[in-house]
Amino acid sequence: MSIEIKDVTYIYDQGTPSESTALSHVNLTIQKGEFVGIIGHTGSGKSTLIQHLNGLIRPTGGQVICDGEDIFAAPTGVKKKKELRALQAAKMKRVRQKVGLVFQYPEHQLFEMTVAGDIAFGPKNLGLGEEEIERRVDQAMAMVGLSDEYKEKSPFELSGGQKRRVAIAGVLAMQPEYLILDEPTAGLDPRGRDEILTQVQQLQKQQGITVILVSHSMEDVAKYVDRIIAMGEGRVQLDGTPREVFAHAERLKAIGLDIPQVTQLGNLLAEQGFSVPETILSLDEMQEKLLHILKG
Ligand SMILES: Nc1ncnc2c1ncn2[C@@H]1O[C@H](COP(=O)(O)OP(=O)(O)OP(=O)(O)O)[C@@H](O)[C@H]1O
Ligand SMILES: [Mg+2]
Repeated sequence: MSIEIKDVTYIYDQGTPSESTALSHVNLTIQKGEFVGIIGHTGSGKSTLIQHLNGLIRPTGGQVICDGEDIFAAPTGVKKKKELRALQAAKMKRVRQKVGLVFQYPEHQLFEMTVAGDIAFGPKNLGLGEEEIERRVDQAMAMVGLSDEYKEKSPFELSGGQKRRVAIAGVLAMQPEYLILDEPTAGLDPRGRDEILTQVQQLQKQQGITVILVSHSMEDVAKYVDRIIAMGEGRVQLDGTPREVFAHAERLKAIGLDIPQVTQLGNLLAEQGFSVPETILSLDEMQEKLLHILKG
């Protein structure tokens, strides 16, 4: 089971003077269960890419295949237009439920009077019964670490971090198999950032939800994800484990990206002749290396 992006190109405002190519021949496969980070300079096509994964954007060229199903291909063997449209709509509904997307600055999309009402919005649209809806709201709130006392609060009274949690819970209440988060921690303080990302990591590890995280923070992706996709100029520039990707400091610099500070320090030590053999990704690893150097 996977989501596959096959030779996807996307052009905004095609055929107009403001036409711009946001994605150019992108190929990617995201396997079920992975925790993938997408990094890239502003304008590199990250948001455009992830909106393809749940069919929100239709590629100008190429295919998006979700668990073996080409999400935009017309069903074969159906002649009547009405029937065709109904089949397409049903497929899109399936895909949207399976692939949950939390937008960049999701707090702009909270609109119900209460937190519980907001989280219940999606499940209600699925036509679920009252009891099931309530069960899902409770479950989703627990998953993002929102206690019961928030249920009847207005989402507008909450802090930035809590609003993000409500938005993520709203998507989790749809019980997606793939969870896409577009910059879920932008503008939050370090503690809020770590809390949210730790919870997301638990969802991936314990519930087996596939997570795709768009992030501007090299530190965050180094710490949490198993695989990094680096975008630049609408193309995949690097794809590998954090250690593999952050070993390419020069290549990343060329597309406007840094490596984590602790990795930079490791490289500096190596340049000075210290024995620091591999790309360092965390403070723990750095501590171990420094102690080793000092001792010996
Ligand atoms: N609605 C739109 N209409 C026209 N062009 C757009 C639109 N949205 C994005 N673009 C352009 O497409 C390219 C990719 O944008 P996209 O938003 O996917 O980048 P991003 O990597 O998500 O950037 P950021 O880090 O700032 O969120 C950019 O050149 C951008 O200006
Ligand atoms: Mg974006």
